[in-house]
Amino acid sequence: MSLSAGITGIRAVTDLAVEGKRVFVRVDHNVPLAKADGGGAHRKVADDARIRATLPTLRHLIERGARIVLGSHLGRPDGQTKPEYSLEPVAQRLAELLELDVALADEPVGDGARKVVSDLRDGQIAMLENLRFHPGEEANDEQFARTLASYCDVYVNDAFGTAHRAHASTTGMVKHVAEKGAGFVMAREIDFLSRLLGDVDRPYVAVLGGAKVSDKIEVLDALLERVNAIVIGGAMANTFLEAQGKSLGKSKVERDKLPIARNFLRKAAEKRIAVHLPTDVVVASGLDADAATPVAVDAIPADAMALDIGPSTIEAYRRTLGAARTVFWNGPMGVFEKPRFAAGTVAVARALADNKLALTVVGGGDSAAAIAQAGLADKVSHVSTGGGASLEFVQGLELPGIAALKP
Ligand code: 3PG
Repeated sequence: MSLSAGITGIRAVTDLAVEGKRVFVRVDHNVPLAKADGGGAHRKVADDARIRATLPTLRHLIERGARIVLGSHLGRPDGQTKPEYSLEPVAQRLAELLELDVALADEPVGDGARKVVSDLRDGQIAMLENLRFHPGEEANDEQFARTLASYCDVYVNDAFGTAHRAHASTTGMVKHVAEKGAGFVMAREIDFLSRLLGDVDRPYVAVLGGAKVSDKIEVLDALLERVNAIVIGGAMANTFLEAQGKSLGKSKVERDKLPIARNFLRKAAEKRIAVHLPTDVVVASGLDADAATPVAVDAIPADAMALDIGPSTIEAYRRTLGAARTVFWNGPMGVFEKPRFAAGTVAVARALADNKLALTVVGGGDSAAAIAQAGLADKVSHVSTGGGASLEFVQGLELPGIAALKP
């Protein structure tokens, strides 16, 4: 495994001596859970993509006879032990995938955790309970970080999805461990996402969707400095359309963000960066309505909601994406979880998959789920495991979890 030139100095997991050593691996096994069959409080992993992604790093360490201590967060339990956020279903799924026992400590730190770690033999694997059950994780508390560090001889970070958080397990503990490096997930993410910051093939087109302008305005602003065109869809497009004077009926619009939207459109025009907004949308009376109709954006009925981009917009976006030589996509074009409003998102996924000449990178979260749902995840250059982390990376920000791995 090689790491790209911009981050030379970070060691790869394959360069670390791990035989017989206790190796702490920070993973991002923050996965969606669903109620398990039989009901009750018991849960199961609903999407194991983030667990599967870490298998190459774990298999490498197992084969090398490391004693693996896994650390992850799950959800946002706010520093308290909340059983619904237990990593138990995750440890169980990981054990199935590895066909190995995975011991789960009943706490992130403490006597139980220490015992599970000291019982490890070469090639065995144990998981600490949800690190965010302890307030020291998110506070990046020094004592908590030192305790985590005392459980290992080597530190490996394979949690790209959490690399934008300066927490005890991603930054604080790292300085207390002698050897450190990046796992395969982390290395691949850095490799592909770094290419978007360098001398890219042009045109470079960013596709941004999702619910809120407020979630994406920083990335939109940063991308103005890098891309040739920005394609916008999802509910956030409504706010831009209203900023241009359109009437959006009952659609979701962030009225308090209209000045930000107007300001962004003005800056883009000054910089001569094309901003593509929908010219038609699919409207319905509500999310569960039976009828869904495409209408032009200047003819949205007063009682209708825009829930997807329309067919003319799909055609225009397909042409723009077909001509691109670099694409970054984050955020769905509509309410893709409902088949009636999924066409725009699926069309963007297909446009990326069909463009064999471009570097095509999909940010994590909903867009990763959408491209997987469309069965096209293996047809693009890279699907990131990180949502917020990939957005910060493409802005050119330094991620604390990556900075901590540098010598
Ligand atoms: C994610 O899902 O984006 C990461 O696991 C980080 O989770 P967080 O937003 O709760 O820090």
